[in-house]
Amino acid sequence: MLKRRVVTKQELDGILERLADEINRDLEGKDPVFVGVLKGAVYFFTALTQRLTRSVAVDFIQVSSYGASTSSSGMVTLIKDLTVDIAGKDVYVVEDIVDTGITLVDVLALIAARHPRSLKVVALLSKPSRRKREVPVDFVGMEIPDVFVVGFGLDFAEQFRNLPEIWEFAMEEGG
Ligand code: IMP
Repeated sequence: MLKRRVVTKQELDGILERLADEINRDLEGKDPVFVGVLKGAVYFFTALTQRLTRSVAVDFIQVSSYGASTSSSGMVTLIKDLTVDIAGKDVYVVEDIVDTGITLVDVLALIAARHPRSLKVVALLSKPSRRKREVPVDFVGMEIPDVFVVGFGLDFAEQFRNLPEIWEFAMEEGG
């Protein structure tokens, strides 16, 4: 059940504008490839990259997710690989949310093995209190407490990704 709104449409617009500003400044002199982590980052990825003031290359990677559970299994497998050659490029990994950090650590290792010139992370949300792996997040939209959220790409069992705002999700009482 959807419990309460955690990030409104208006707040999302503000976050996107600020992140795009920061990243636009960072892009000077770069040869960038923006890599979205499927599927959760798709809504954030398209909204963010459309706010960039120059052309960038885009690509996607998909790794195993939580499935129908709300806690991480700690096992990440590659489902869909990159198609763009990122060797020598400035890669920006775009994630929906950094929770334990386990997914991101694995994604960064996969990408670093292809020898990009630089590697940075953009995350819409971060739950710092849940971190199990130390992982660098260069651009953070918003830090949130330890709650499970859905909407704007984030799912529970593949549902709610298409909600335009971000909601706290809770299991039904007794369910
Ligand atoms: P981590 O490996 O624990 O950092 O988890 C990262 C991935 O778990 C994210 O990319 C999401 O797909 C998923 N995830 C973590 N927290 C949430 C949440 O609150 N709602 C929906 N998905 C989440």
